[in-house]
Amino acid sequence: DLGGVKVNREDVVRDDPTNNVPDNIFSKLGVQLHRRDQHPLGILKNAIYQYFDENYSNKFNKFDDLSPIVSVKENFDDVLVPEDHVSRSYNDTYYVDPQTVLRCHTSAHQAELLRSGNTHFLVTGDVYRRDSIDSTHYPVFHQMEGFRVFVPEEWEASEMDGTSFAAADLKKCLEGLARHLFGAVEMRWVDTYFPFTNPSFELEIYFKEKWMEVLGCGVTEQEILKRNGQPNNVAWAFGLGLERLAMVLFDIPDIRLFWSNDERFTSQFSAGQLGVKFKPFSKYPPCYKDISFWINESFTENNLCELVRGIAGDLVEEVQLIDDFTNKKGMTSHCYRIAYRSMERSLTDDEINDLQWKVRDQVQSKLNVVLR
Ligand code: PHE
Repeated sequence: DLGGVKVNREDVVRDDPTNNVPDNIFSKLGVQLHRRDQHPLGILKNAIYQYFDENYSNKFNKFDDLSPIVSVKENFDDVLVPEDHVSRSYNDTYYVDPQTVLRCHTSAHQAELLRSGNTHFLVTGDVYRRDSIDSTHYPVFHQMEGFRVFVPEEWEASEMDGTSFAAADLKKCLEGLARHLFGAVEMRWVDTYFPFTNPSFELEIYFKEKWMEVLGCGVTEQEILKRNGQPNNVAWAFGLGLERLAMVLFDIPDIRLFWSNDERFTSQFSAGQLGVKFKPFSKYPPCYKDISFWINESFTENNLCELVRGIAGDLVEEVQLIDDFTNKKGMTSHCYRIAYRSMERSLTDDEINDLQWKVRDQVQSKLNVVLR
């Protein structure tokens, strides 16, 4: 039951070339971690709600139950994603059929919400992306979209044009949000590109000796406002990744933990308690297995990762390319190191060997590569 819509497995997972949704992804639909008040993602969502309620006197409408199954039009066309943009590819996005995807960002809801008259809104939801595997990437994660519309009177009182006014307001709002969540943290703004905003920025925060991107934002393209009944107004939008922020705030070392039902994880968090540091219940040893093969033209790392995830589920921690060379005949060989580790228990040698044999088998049969 997703946003009031019942979904059948047969409607979402099909053995059809226009469908690339595997069972382990289907099983995440409707889980809605962001709606659990005791879960780090729910706690973070509520803390962000609180910031907006306090600073904008409850003006932001909140949506956290919109179905993640959206049209290609909503996910891409309505937010001006070009026809040839990589994010539209089957390698990056989960397609249910040629017109329907699992949303890859909460921006998929901008147009419909604007059309239905919303001028201040927050949309929280699960989003889906085919990607590589490591401690900060998981094919399902959660975003919050923020959107605010200004009418001409609001910027005309200032010396600024609409775009500069909105950009300044946006940065002030998000810096305030970062301080509300983190207190003192090092942050920086980076100029970037999104099809739906101009100018566009990313906010990065300094975490574990690295700059980490936590949100994208910008001044909404005028075309989007024009198409949705607001030709004279300007707006800003942001989209932030809840897991990225929650990992920093709660000291959660691996993104797979958000999906854990282990009480040693879940019992450490309570509603309204932002930033209680997670105490790892023990770090079980990882086990590394290498696999080498000659790739072909259709090989992609995302396909490999999905295959490994399909076999090992959350027991796979990382898939890393450790060697890449092309021989005189022009054949290219890749060697990947797969790290297996459970968040909850020790794995046995037999269990890991069994997983690795299955991986070798399927890499050969499904990806059509030649094992070395
Ligand atoms: N949708 C963008 C992403 O997922 C984030 C974003 C939202 C950027 C709104 C700008 C404005 O990366």
